[in-house]
Amino acid sequence: MRVLVVGGGGREHALVHAFASSRLAAQLFCAPGNAGIAEEADCVDVGADDLPALLAFAKKEHIDLTVVGPEAPLVAGLADLFAENQLPVFGPSRLAAQLEGSKAFAKDVMYDAGAPTGRFRRHDNLDDALRCLEMQDTWPLVVKADGLAAGKGVVIANDYEEAHRAVEENLVDGRYGAASSVLIIEEFLTGPEVSLLALCDGKTVLPMAPAQDYKRIFAGDRGPNTGGMGSYCPVPGFEQAAVDRVVDEVYEPVLAALRKRGIDYRGVLYGGLIVTDEGVKLLEFNCRFGDPETQAILPRLESDLLELCLAAAGGELGGMSLSWKPQPCVSVVMASRGYPESSSKGDVISGLAEAAAEPDVTVYHAGTAFAAQAPAAGGAAPAGRPIVTAGGRVLAVSALGQDFAAARRCAYDALEHIRFDGMQSRTDIAERAVKAERHELDLFPSTPAS
Ligand code: GLY
Repeated sequence: MRVLVVGGGGREHALVHAFASSRLAAQLFCAPGNAGIAEEADCVDVGADDLPALLAFAKKEHIDLTVVGPEAPLVAGLADLFAENQLPVFGPSRLAAQLEGSKAFAKDVMYDAGAPTGRFRRHDNLDDALRCLEMQDTWPLVVKADGLAAGKGVVIANDYEEAHRAVEENLVDGRYGAASSVLIIEEFLTGPEVSLLALCDGKTVLPMAPAQDYKRIFAGDRGPNTGGMGSYCPVPGFEQAAVDRVVDEVYEPVLAALRKRGIDYRGVLYGGLIVTDEGVKLLEFNCRFGDPETQAILPRLESDLLELCLAAAGGELGGMSLSWKPQPCVSVVMASRGYPESSSKGDVISGLAEAAAEPDVTVYHAGTAFAAQAPAAGGAAPAGRPIVTAGGRVLAVSALGQDFAAARRCAYDALEHIRFDGMQSRTDIAERAVKAERHELDLFPSTPAS
């Protein structure tokens, strides 16, 4: 079968890599892909947001299944466009993707479904929003732009002044364009977070193993937020019973609430969960695989992901199940100079083959490209066509191990082979998982999650 993966980051490399070992012996295409994906799929020079060009390609190449990585094309209606053209897609429709595309819509659905989440108010009017702030007596609170804001758009406001500024940035300045025309003011929740991704076919929910990611750029959770600097899977202390309860209390009611609105959710439903003193609550929904969680989840998956995606797209997940390797996985992101404020392009990357040759290691490419021209004499270019940095997050080095300590050691040892100017990575990915497995740390001290 012929499969198109849309996107070009580490998540999409992880998807392509998983599909490459499918029993369905797929011919793989990726738009636009990256230098690592090019080893496993035919990369197509079409942007992930160029819906007409993606459709034309899928028609011309008789694509049997399209799997969409990023949220923007889903929120823009890629799945609807492809469905109108009888092209099967793994990924929710435009309306279903509003779970990520509109924070207020997601909150409404959570409330309809009785899913535990923070209290909130939706505002599209400055005076009303400011009146709402004046009535607050508990700080901090959270101000969120309603729409997609490229991972930005969320402000934790510690007092009225900060909240006022955040409200004005959205409703007066339109800082995130159309995404800013509505905002929500939300209760601030605190506790450890867990990413729970589930494959959905409209009715059936198949939860994947839980994962945790690291959002800040520097070790010790310092510095600005990023797209994610590392992840691990599973999460010690967030056991199967906790997963089953969240599926019962959140995912299935949410799919039912969507069906009541005439919306069939097919694709990945990714809940950003927070374990508070009052129990597990939903921070947000995403309508896609997480990045970099996918790079820690998929190396553990024994089931055939492509078969599962095909079944989900066809509404046929019922009766299917997921099986997992017992080994945990640790994934460490390597970013380029300047990230997250900027990124450095064109820095030659060495040591990729050596890192990938380590047992139980997979090197996923994100912001990489083939050098347009040979590097300057004296540069550390590897033999063959050099691979260079081409974005903020460049690689994710994932490793399996007998336990978290071994997986972590293996990932960091592999990473030592890789070099490029300005590279940045956190030194503490999965440190807390190692402590938890040694019973030196309880990741969920206030609420037993199991
Ligand atoms: N790991 C965060 C995200 O995928 O949005």
